[in-house]
Amino acid sequence: MKSIKNIKNLRGKRVLVRCDFNVPIKNARVLDDFKIVKQLDTLRFLLKKGCKVILVTHLGRPKLDEDLSLFLLDPIARRLENLLSKKILYVKDVLGFEATTAIVKMKEGEVVLLDNIRFYKGELKNDKKFAKSIAKLFDIYINNAFAVSHRAQASVSAITKYIDAYPGMLLEKEITNLSKAQNPKKPLVAIVGGLKLKTKIPLIKKLSKIADHVLVGGALANDFLVANNLEVGKSVIDTEGIYFVKKYQPRNVLVPVDVVVSTNKAGGHAMVKSVNKVGKNDYIFDIGPETIKLYASFIKMANTIVWNGPMGFFELKDFRHGTLAVARLVASRSKGKAYGIVGGGETVEALKMTKMIDDVDWVSTGGGAMLSYLGGKKMPGLIF
Ligand code: 3PG
Repeated sequence: MKSIKNIKNLRGKRVLVRCDFNVPIKNARVLDDFKIVKQLDTLRFLLKKGCKVILVTHLGRPKLDEDLSLFLLDPIARRLENLLSKKILYVKDVLGFEATTAIVKMKEGEVVLLDNIRFYKGELKNDKKFAKSIAKLFDIYINNAFAVSHRAQASVSAITKYIDAYPGMLLEKEITNLSKAQNPKKPLVAIVGGLKLKTKIPLIKKLSKIADHVLVGGALANDFLVANNLEVGKSVIDTEGIYFVKKYQPRNVLVPVDVVVSTNKAGGHAMVKSVNKVGKNDYIFDIGPETIKLYASFIKMANTIVWNGPMGFFELKDFRHGTLAVARLVASRSKGKAYGIVGGGETVEALKMTKMIDDVDWVSTGGGAMLSYLGGKKMPGLIF
């Protein structure tokens, strides 16, 4: 891969950095700045070199019938201003007069944040003309948005055809660290949870070949139980996922032996049941204590660990035990012998709850992007 560290004469250059500032925002405040903080190395590097730094990001998936003010970037600009201790000029524009004027007037070491790129329909269409018009305004383009690099979108993919393009430092680190799972120090233990098995089929296919053990949890584990003729009551299932398990029969996969259930869709009255005792009215909301013990025995032996997806409905206190237990096990083993990789928005949120996030070797900013990369899919944003 090319590297921005090898670019000569950066001083005074107009550098467009594609960031992923797709962060949770409530009441005009950034709730979690993890993805913003991860951009700082690259931005500080460019500012130190005397670049004019122009940032572009998406936030959410705005639709015309929604309140578009919720997709404006003011809270992000403020947070970034704080983190960089630097004025950030947020222009609510990308290609028009306001943006062009601001960019032309910039001095070395200044930062401009362009508007939410998903306000433009050319973005989602990976439109070449749109990408070319953006590229025209800059000398260099840097993709530092690993988390959206699995999308064929103009500011990530098409633009690289019209300008000298480089990966940013975060993107480089994501690739270096995630690729450790592709050529792992064995045993490799993968933990895959979350809602939809169908979104994780390529990952499970790949992992079942390279991992020594794949431990599954969360709603997607229900598809494995159903495929093995077990009752899951009213729990979430996914016919595509069940079909995949029956047809493909992924190897090395361990499924829960017990679960925490409730007869109430909204939770409450948590009960532990063996997987062959789940009733027709039960909702499976977590892995049970025997499963935690079983999974712990594998995690404790691992030399490489990959974890993506919670083990259950961890948003509710009664059903968070499995996810937090796995988070603690992964973090402790990563602090010790194993190389630990964790990714996915909810997974990282759960890991944070344990206050052990710093023990994990690599916490990815990517959710879907991590799945794509580890699943061996072609990523439109990774062409350098
Ligand atoms: C993410 O949060 O995973 C990335 O920002 C990608 O967002 P998207 O799924 O809306 O493309």
